Amino acid sequence: MLPDEERRDVSKTHKLYIETVGCQMNMLDSELVVAALRKRGYELTDSAKSADTILFNTCSVRQHAEDKIYSALGRLKNAKQNHPDKVIGVIGCMAQKDQKLIFQRAPYVDLVVGPGQLHQVPDLIDAARGKAEQRMEVSLGRRDGSRDEISRSHESFDPLRDPEMRPTPYQAYVRIMIGCDKFCTYCIVPSVRGPEQSRPPEHLLAEARQLAAEGCKEITLLGQTVNSYRYRDGARIWRLSDLLNAIHDVDGIERLKFVTNYPKDMTDDLLSAVRDLPKVSSYLHVPVQSGSNRMLERMKRGYTVEEYREMLDRIRQMIPEAAVTSDFIVGFCGETDDDFQQTCDLVRAARFKNSFIFKYSERPGTKGAERFADDVPEEVKKQRNNELLLIQNQISEEDNLKFLGRHVEILVEGPSKASQQRGEEGPLLQLTGRTHCDRIVVFQGNQRQIGQILPVIIFDTSAFTLHGEVVTGEAGPELFSLGA
Ligand code: 5AD
Ligand code: SF4
Repeated sequence: MLPDEERRDVSKTHKLYIETVGCQMNMLDSELVVAALRKRGYELTDSAKSADTILFNTCSVRQHAEDKIYSALGRLKNAKQNHPDKVIGVIGCMAQKDQKLIFQRAPYVDLVVGPGQLHQVPDLIDAARGKAEQRMEVSLGRRDGSRDEISRSHESFDPLRDPEMRPTPYQAYVRIMIGCDKFCTYCIVPSVRGPEQSRPPEHLLAEARQLAAEGCKEITLLGQTVNSYRYRDGARIWRLSDLLNAIHDVDGIERLKFVTNYPKDMTDDLLSAVRDLPKVSSYLHVPVQSGSNRMLERMKRGYTVEEYREMLDRIRQMIPEAAVTSDFIVGFCGETDDDFQQTCDLVRAARFKNSFIFKYSERPGTKGAERFADDVPEEVKKQRNNELLLIQNQISEEDNLKFLGRHVEILVEGPSKASQQRGEEGPLLQLTGRTHCDRIVVFQGNQRQIGQILPVIIFDTSAFTLHGEVVTGEAGPELFSLGA
């Protein structure tokens, strides 16, 4: 017979509430933590109130992301007082960055677990329940040991997955590397995610084969600088292009993507792989951050605007249909109007499919915060953000217009945002999918089309979305009446 306490534990289903902010890496981490907890009988709930376990998977890239988490934690103060057996955990990048500060700011937090220690989360939660003791598990800082010691303390968390626990059964992220060694001066990632470490190709291939066997059609390979992937296997060095070639041979996988790329590592072998392997999406996210050499140097990005443009030319020559997207930081330390105008010029010339634009947010502990004053006023950052967005949106609108009347193949992802907001039910509803070049397409469809790759004709476009109609059978006359 089980002792009383254990009996209570197995008969009770724990309810888990998890909030995730940040990048795809965090989304994958949350998925894997949830999967590990579901194996132990946890059920997901979307109400923090009814949950007995609350996790925040956090991001430290900008101040705003941290503020959001601290205010969410603030709102839990009473909940913890009224239900002391609730377990509250802060995991991910902010856990690694702020460590004990989290306990100081929110003394009712039970657990602080860095991104390199996520494998410990289920045991830590079990141990924390009903106990007053706080536990913190973080990895070594970048100056706290030899490279080997620091690397070992950042463990990649990639347990085998249960297909039912993925957000969609036909799409999956696969982490091919962790950490970053680039040390751009504005960026906190190398400190919180540790040294660059590539995972062994045989593990990645095994993961891809398993995912395919479970019905997964699209894999997105993840890494902070995914195209810096390097793995020495005896005499052989594996690069991202080698991985793409190997995963391309896995039956059942129909689409392959990879994010995020570092401009200097956009080598010809990789571009050839994208050009020659039909399953690889012609979509490249290659953040440039600024169009001014002075800023790029201050950011320590390791390339000039001319070099970035030369790389873009190579992409356009080798893969003319490729959609390229970028990230920008506006208002970095010392950015003048002239620097900013050079960024606008680059956006006009580069014709990115879309750009993610961020206002510089000083991160304590980075070289940027140490060396330079955060001297661009918030108002100016805002203006520059809006101005750049307007330029980009006009380009996105113009380039999307070229899709009018064109046939594209889309992987159907699920109900569109509008359909979810309208609470559409039943088999017929508005669905959303993506083209090979990562453009979003919405169309009227049927539930059973989710997860399929379908031919669609585009009849309307905007800066962000293409509107289409599924092409059924031979193109009848009605299809040619659509669009241009
Ligand atoms: N402030 C603003 N944006 C940042 N990014 C990274 N660090 C900062 C920062 N300190 C942006 C970069 C990066 C993206 C993921 O976030 O553009 O590519
Ligand atoms: Fe941050 Fe630069 Fe590494 Fe990207 S390449 S994660 S911006 S340090």
